[in-house]
Amino acid sequence: MGLDANTQQLIRAVAEGDIRLARKWALEALDGDTTQKNRPFVSRYLSILSSEGSNRIELPGNLKDIMLCEDVSLSFKEGRYYLGEQERQTAEKIMRMAGVSQKLMEMQIPYKNATLLYGPPGTGKTTFGRYVAYRMGLPFCYLNFSRLVDSLLGGTSRNLAHAFSYASANPCVFMLDEVDTICASRERCGSGGAEKELGRVTITLMQEFDRLANDVVAIAATNRLDLLDEAFVSRCPIKCEMLPLDEGGRRAMALKFIEDTGMQLPAPVVDKAVREAKDQRQLMDRLILAIAEKLDEEAN
Ligand SMILES: Nc1ncnc2c1ncn2[C@@H]1O[C@H](COP(=O)(O)OP(=O)(O)OP(=O)(O)O)[C@@H](O)[C@H]1O
Ligand SMILES: [Mg+2]
Repeated sequence: MGLDANTQQLIRAVAEGDIRLARKWALEALDGDTTQKNRPFVSRYLSILSSEGSNRIELPGNLKDIMLCEDVSLSFKEGRYYLGEQERQTAEKIMRMAGVSQKLMEMQIPYKNATLLYGPPGTGKTTFGRYVAYRMGLPFCYLNFSRLVDSLLGGTSRNLAHAFSYASANPCVFMLDEVDTICASRERCGSGGAEKELGRVTITLMQEFDRLANDVVAIAATNRLDLLDEAFVSRCPIKCEMLPLDEGGRRAMALKFIEDTGMQLPAPVVDKAVREAKDQRQLMDRLILAIAEKLDEEAN
């Protein structure tokens, strides 16, 4: 049997060193194989190639330790994402403002398409950033400040400048996650050495933020709005409070996820998870556990 069109595309992408395209064609090939004998192979590699974080975009050496960049077009599972009304409106607004900020750029008027997400842990802030990148067809570039802070305190705030200039040069959704870690109100900063350094890093962050190109979609997230420097908050024209879903929302989120997995969970199990989960993260953890238990039961 000769090479089919898909395999030819895959070979071409590999030969041209385009790993992103090669992944895409590999996924297509796996998706198209429904034979029983290949089932374990297909499910193993579908899972690896489409899992969160697996489609990393290669970054320059000086950025590798501080930033992650991912092609979410292959890994974000829209069919499992519950889009609440508020998130839908916020995403629409971010996408509309992308057009507006382009026009402003042509008029040489600086404008930031910047959104601040705030709310308690586990309410979907980071996931929403990935969703926006997926919807806009842009890479998801992710800076997590709580992981960064050690190196920043080591006097390497120039790394921050590298990350920002990368984001400016490469259109992306630029997520500044757990931004309160460094962007704490300057009044709150004490007089100790580390706190002064943190204050300086906050100023660097704002200067870099002001220099961001108009076409970067910036999304900052925090669960401590009360700690954030007011000057940073006011730099984000779009603000969205992310809260734990109410019971109706949790049920809708659970049913969407379960349906997409193709599993049949007993209604009382789903009810219990929906009733007891306090936020989206807990709900997802409980559903995954319930699915794992069901599969275990079926296997024995
Ligand atoms: N709208 C949603 N639809 C489906 N799953 C969701 C949704 N929101 C959150 N989740 C699930 O909940 C988990 C936690 O969400 P996420 O990490 O985005 O929360 P967070 O607000 O960023 O939390 P933290 O403040 O602790 O960083 C995700 O891994 C995802 O599985
Ligand atoms: Mg988060």
